[in-house]
Amino acid sequence: MTPWDIADRPRRRVGRGLELHDEIPSTNDRARELLAEPDGEGRAVVAEVQTAGRGRRGRTWTSPGGVNLAVSVGLQPRLSTGDAWQLAAAAALAAWDACNRFAPVTLKWPNDVVADFDGAKVGGILIETTLDGERVAEAVIGIGLNLNWARRDMPAELAGATSLAELAGGPVDRGEVLDGLLDALDDEIVALEAGHTPRDRYRAACSTLGREVELETGEGRIHGRAVDIDERGELVLETSDGTVHVASGEIARLRTAVPA
Ligand code: BTN
Repeated sequence: MTPWDIADRPRRRVGRGLELHDEIPSTNDRARELLAEPDGEGRAVVAEVQTAGRGRRGRTWTSPGGVNLAVSVGLQPRLSTGDAWQLAAAAALAAWDACNRFAPVTLKWPNDVVADFDGAKVGGILIETTLDGERVAEAVIGIGLNLNWARRDMPAELAGATSLAELAGGPVDRGEVLDGLLDALDDEIVALEAGHTPRDRYRAACSTLGREVELETGEGRIHGRAVDIDERGELVLETSDGTVHVASGEIARLRTAVPA
């Protein structure tokens, strides 16, 4: 019996088999390698410790062994490059769904899972894609969730982070979270490939909308009120200079909007 004894359900696209590692550089790298192997597509790669775990925007992803979840899945999705952003939204919704079974969480654009209560980060998603002209040739979906990591044990640089156990008021069953996540991700990917965009459900789960935000983009900071996610997955901001659509960035500050 390991913490990862998950239900033996036939999944269609994601979680068809599970590969467990005590230690590995990055589950995303292993999931990409698996795409070159027969039946490697959709296999979930889970590691207790990653020695080179990656986050978004070139950051390191830190997580001690035995308490959290680091999982990746490689896919050759039936998806056009223009719709590639939907993979991140779908993965975020799956993580949101799996976590919400234990404690209330929401999504912070683009794809952080955060505490509903105070916006502290529970987890994040790193999607790495290889494009082939107009289609997504390969995509690796990597999800890191803080599950039973006590806030007092987190390093100082993770001051804005929390864990699902902190929110739930007690330890969560990591296998149950993984099981729920793979089920939800499988459903999301099947829906996506059938042409159903996750946009409306993503908007409903995204607590960034309606807030005043300060967004760090490659070209500097933008301040405005987040009002929508457009059909390309871009965050729509109302700023003093008009409406701005932002494709990628990092929310540096987030405030509840003062009602007009
Ligand atoms: C972020 O919030 O910056 C994204 C974090 C993604 C971390 C996960 S853990 C599993 C997978 N393997 C990695 O190296 N990164 C992702």
